[in-house]
Amino acid sequence: MSLAFPVPVRPVIQPPPMVEEVLDDDERATLKARIKTLMKQQDAVLVAHYYTSADLQDLAEETGGCVSDSLEMARFGHAHPAKTLIVAGVKFMGETAKILNPEKRVLMPDLAAECSLDLACPADEFAAFCDTHPDRISVVYANTSAAVKARADWVVTSGIAARIVKYLHRQGHKLLWAPDRHLGDYVQRITGADMILWQGSCVVHEAFKAEALKKLRAEHPNAAVLVHPESPEAVIALADVVGSTTQLIEAVRTLPNPEFIVATDNGIFHKMHAAAPGKRLLEAPTAGEGATCVSCAHCPWMAMNGLRKLAAVLENGGNEIHIEESIRVKAAVSIQRMLDFAAAEKAGQIQLGD
Ligand code: 13P
Ligand code: SF4
Repeated sequence: MSLAFPVPVRPVIQPPPMVEEVLDDDERATLKARIKTLMKQQDAVLVAHYYTSADLQDLAEETGGCVSDSLEMARFGHAHPAKTLIVAGVKFMGETAKILNPEKRVLMPDLAAECSLDLACPADEFAAFCDTHPDRISVVYANTSAAVKARADWVVTSGIAARIVKYLHRQGHKLLWAPDRHLGDYVQRITGADMILWQGSCVVHEAFKAEALKKLRAEHPNAAVLVHPESPEAVIALADVVGSTTQLIEAVRTLPNPEFIVATDNGIFHKMHAAAPGKRLLEAPTAGEGATCVSCAHCPWMAMNGLRKLAAVLENGGNEIHIEESIRVKAAVSIQRMLDFAAAEKAGQIQLGD
């Protein structure tokens, strides 16, 4: 099979209906106490993404785990000595944890928590994409399956994508990029790299609307606009800060603005409020002027995680991530390249300038 060039735009994957866990105070307290006991008994640590519920984020912090972006989730799980990693997030995050930690048990509250980017990039079609362009290095976003990572040369997250692409571009490489067309396009614009882009998109970020955002910004002249780079180009063009989830939280903490308009999943508001308690946070619009959103600033797959499911997984077992060893070994190479790059940059061994 060979793919035609240019790469066709993938239809946005329709997400499942949004079902969020609702708990009263008593049930929340009971569940948390039970989970904490089970986690101790099973030598488990909880690693949660910023888009998961406030309950899961709080529990992760109360139990010595971490709440972070996908790059730090991978790093933390790898460095932590616990025998069981519980990953509250979406499937690719659990798979990344297992790829890096084959000796550990990796559990997720719900294995059906997918990601529209991962689903938009089937491994066989990605392999054909690579085969069609053998002269190019392949760089894939972490939001992909283990099998896609196994075929790729590099894995990157949004927090490090531009720096790795810049590094590869400076070395004279031409690149293939998958699966997020908006992040790929953004990275291409700021690095000038020669990239052929897979045409997937995120159902949450695809929905942010530039015209409505302009209007909201005009109504809030003191607000800074914060945008995750999975958003469309016209939305990114309005941003004061473009960055990964961690970078956007840092912007709320450090910028002097009293208000922020935030174009990413609203689960992040929990941490943003904690980082800068006095500041006002506004959701970037997902449905202006007759437009509609499918998943309005909240990821329906992230919402599948909750305390009840987490307690059930620890009590009954199940929901463990397994990855075929030949795939795991190859995927580990491309993820480890990213982690080594991050470590080398931190140690000053790689300097890219601005
Ligand atoms: P981060 O790496 O910025 O946490 O993003 C992951 C993600 O899925 C964003 O939609
Ligand atoms: Fe995937 Fe988008 Fe959900 Fe992130 S927000 S996990 S990219 S569907």
